Amino acid sequence: MKAQLQQLLQQTVDTLKQKDILPADAEPRIQVDRTKDKAHGDLATNLALVSSKLAGQNPRQLAQTIIDNLPSSSLVTKVDIAGPGFINFFLNPNWLAQQVENALDDKQLGVSTVAQPQTIVVDYSSPNLAKEMHVGHLRSSIIGDAVTRTLEFLGHKLVRQNHVGDWGTQFGMLLAYMEELQQKGEAIDSNLSNLELFYRAAKGRFDESEAFATRARNLVVELQSGDEHCNKLWQEFNETSLSHCQETYDRLGVSLTRQDVRGESAYNDDLGQVVVDLDSKGLLQEDQGAKCVFLDEFKNKDGEPLPVIVQKKDGGFLYATSDLAAIRYRQSSLNADRVLYFVDARQGLHFQQVFTVARNAGFVEASTSLEHMPFGTVMGEDGKPFKTRSGGVAKLADLLTEAESRAYDLVKAKNPDMDEAQLRDIASVVGIASVKYADLSKNRTSDYMFSFDQMLSFEGNTAPYLLYAYTRVASVFNKAGIDANSLTGELTLDHEKEVDLATKLVQFNEVIESVARLGYPHLLCAYLYELAGLFSSFYEACPILKAASEEQKNSRLKLASLTAKTLKQGLQLLGINTLERM
Ligand code: ARG
Repeated sequence: MKAQLQQLLQQTVDTLKQKDILPADAEPRIQVDRTKDKAHGDLATNLALVSSKLAGQNPRQLAQTIIDNLPSSSLVTKVDIAGPGFINFFLNPNWLAQQVENALDDKQLGVSTVAQPQTIVVDYSSPNLAKEMHVGHLRSSIIGDAVTRTLEFLGHKLVRQNHVGDWGTQFGMLLAYMEELQQKGEAIDSNLSNLELFYRAAKGRFDESEAFATRARNLVVELQSGDEHCNKLWQEFNETSLSHCQETYDRLGVSLTRQDVRGESAYNDDLGQVVVDLDSKGLLQEDQGAKCVFLDEFKNKDGEPLPVIVQKKDGGFLYATSDLAAIRYRQSSLNADRVLYFVDARQGLHFQQVFTVARNAGFVEASTSLEHMPFGTVMGEDGKPFKTRSGGVAKLADLLTEAESRAYDLVKAKNPDMDEAQLRDIASVVGIASVKYADLSKNRTSDYMFSFDQMLSFEGNTAPYLLYAYTRVASVFNKAGIDANSLTGELTLDHEKEVDLATKLVQFNEVIESVARLGYPHLLCAYLYELAGLFSSFYEACPILKAASEEQKNSRLKLASLTAKTLKQGLQLLGINTLERM
């Protein structure tokens, strides 16, 4: 509805230009905001304030002129001037009702797909395969997935890229350890089943034995030169590690598959060329034997330009080099219009540097947008980065298991007589949803505190609250045996609570659009939470099945139906399944 009002105001500006009230070349910014206080209507604009100088009128005078020239429309019923010259608009309930009807008739619930779909590459999850996924990978995986789903819903073409860390010196150590186990006749599979222990054991050997460390270093060189034995070991290792990741994605309901994996190693063959091309563009400088790009934009605290090292003295390439190769691939092979990186905020400088080098080198077209979508750290209740009780890094799989078991207790307490299998199914949905929602509902860029008690609470902006709210709406239909998809009669908005609910419902498209543009799923969470709250108030104030008339009942059922669909769709975009009962 903001967009519709903006359109009306744009038409008004054009009229004022024709009438020479505004200069012909004026392009005032037309901003429409929701009002905080109902007494000031539903929407407001500061258009008269920002263009009063252009028009040579005082703002209140111009506000009146704007109102006088507003094209007639069914959107608003009343327009007011407030304060120094704000214009307040009161929405027409009939218009709102029509929007709700339209959304109900639409598979997309009133969210239209974009006229010009973009190709959007999303780099997310991207764990290092040397170790097991831990809580730090949660954020990238689920925030990235929610934004990906939202963009897909809008009709864009999405290319998921799981840029796993499957290359680097730590692999020498792991391969040397695999080799040692093989020589001792031990099964590698069972040892790899706990990657964390495997990594620690390998590291232990590396630190205690000079011979082992030397072998590890040699293996890195052999691996890089394509040695077959080495390559086989390496593939075996990655295979196991990737299957761990896939298990976690499946459990979490993250839409990544093995087809989306394109790790650092995929770019190996292009790294030398990246360096050659940087050199031929005159961007390369040697600094103590290392090949670097110096950028004036990035300086250290002494004001000296910071180098982006692309090749070490010993010939080895770096993280930044593979990211440059990846950018080039995403541009030239994937034809990306936008590339989104859901990566820890602590890598902010890395991405700013890599993006700048890629632009200066012409690896991306000017119109392609490269966007680091940073996120903060998951903290423990002690205010430090989240660790297990024993102080180790928290394995993601263990956290999910604990969430499910806590959810089980919760669901069992509410439904003591439910059969075991159903209890377990529900507990699994609630447990996983709670972990995901707790993360998604926080502002992506801030750190947040991981707390099982909070995420599993039925109060506040949590998964249990929303899932329960959904079952309540769904139960209206179940109880009465009414099909939510075949409602008849006209929707009318009489009661204030009906208007409030409808107003929120028709804002769904605006929220989706913001999530798609900014990559902030918490906006959608906040919206769903508010929607559930408005439904509760409506439900309390406006009897549905016991409405005064059949018309009123049908009309209210329509509101309930769109609420249920919107909650379900919204949660689905967040990667969260709903339940019909809990
Ligand atoms: N593997 C890296 C890490 O765990 C994240 C990779 C992110 N993506 C990228 N294109 N650099 O820190």
